[in-house]
Amino acid sequence: MALAEFLAELDELACEAVAAFETAGDADALEAVRIKFLGAKSGRLRAVQKGLAKVDKADKPTAGKRFNEVKKEIEEAFARIKFATAEDKLHLQEEIAVRLDPTVPGVRPRLGHLHPITQTIEELKDIMGRLGFTLAEGPEVEDQWHNFEALNIPADHPARDPLDNFYMATAEKVAGKSPSQTPPTTGRLLRSQTSTVQIRVMEQLRPPVRIISLGRVYRPDTADATHYPMFHQIEGLLVDRRVTMADLKSVLRLFASSFFEDDVHIRFRPSFFPFTEPSVEVDMSWHGGWIEMGGAGMVDPNVLRAVGYDPEEVTGLAFGLGIERICMRRHGITDIREFYKNDVRFLHQF
Ligand code: DAH
Repeated sequence: MALAEFLAELDELACEAVAAFETAGDADALEAVRIKFLGAKSGRLRAVQKGLAKVDKADKPTAGKRFNEVKKEIEEAFARIKFATAEDKLHLQEEIAVRLDPTVPGVRPRLGHLHPITQTIEELKDIMGRLGFTLAEGPEVEDQWHNFEALNIPADHPARDPLDNFYMATAEKVAGKSPSQTPPTTGRLLRSQTSTVQIRVMEQLRPPVRIISLGRVYRPDTADATHYPMFHQIEGLLVDRRVTMADLKSVLRLFASSFFEDDVHIRFRPSFFPFTEPSVEVDMSWHGGWIEMGGAGMVDPNVLRAVGYDPEEVTGLAFGLGIERICMRRHGITDIREFYKNDVRFLHQF
C-alpha cells in the first residue's frame, strides 16, 4: 500500500474518532465509541494498524510514527471527554455549535489581563504624571553608595545589617573561600528601597527635579499576610527653590484623593528617616479612621550635599509608599502573598 494512502486513512480516522467522542451523549455512548475506535480486537484503529503491514518497507518508519501519534491523539481525546468537568462540557457544546452552525455568535475568548500590581503601577504613573512628575528608573542590584551612603545612612547604621539586606555573595564566597576582610561597605545588594533612585536622578540633573520611580525592592522578611521578601514601592522627589512641608502635604493629598476617588485628608506623624529632616509617617483618612500610607519628609541637607546640590539654594520633598499596600487597600485584599502565587482564580478578580 502506498504511504500517502495509509496516512490519509489515519487522518480520516483521527477526525472521525475525535468528533464521535465529542458528540457522544452520555457515559454509555462514550464507552461504545471507545470500543468502536480503540477496541483491542476489532476497533477501527486496530484495523488500520493491520494495513501497516502492507506499507512499503522503506516507508514503514514514517507510517509507524504517524500511527503512534494518531493513536495517542485518539486516546487523549477520549480521556479529555471522559474526565471533562461540567464547565468544560459546556464550553465544548458551544464550540461544537459554532462548528456546525456558522450563524451562531462566536464564543468569547477568555482574555487575560494585567496583574493587579501592574495595573496599580500604571495608575500611579498616570496620576503622578498629571501632577507633573516624570518617570525615573534605577537598577535593582545597587551599590552601597546609592542604597545607603548618599542617603545619609552611614556604615555603622543598623539598616545596613547583613541580616536585613540581600547582599550579593563576594567572589571569595562564590569560590568557597573563607570570607576575607572585605568591609561590608563595598558589596552590592538587592536594593532595599526605591530611595536609591533619588540619588541617581540628582546626580544626573540640576534642580528643579520632579520625579517618581516605581519598582521592586527586596528585604529578607519571612512571608506573612503583610510581608513578602520582594515588594514594590513608589518613590517621589521634588527639589526646587522654596519647596515646603505644605507642598508635601498637597502633593500627597492630591495623589491619594485621585487614587481613591474620594476627598481624603492627610495627617503627618513625626518619624525618623536618615534621608529626610523632618521626617513623617503619612496617614490618610479612610472610612472615618486613619490608615498608614508610608514615609515622607523634607530631603536632608546631607543628601542634597552628597549629590552636589546647595541646601541653601534648594529644598526638596520626598515620599516612599508601598504599592502592594495601596493595591490591597483599594481592593480589600488581606494577604500580600496572594499576589505572588500566580493563582489565576485570584488574579482574575481584579
Ligand atoms: N525609603 C523608605 C522605606 O523604604 C520610605 C521613604 C520614607 C521614602 C521617607 C522617602 C521618604 O522618600 O522621604 O521605608
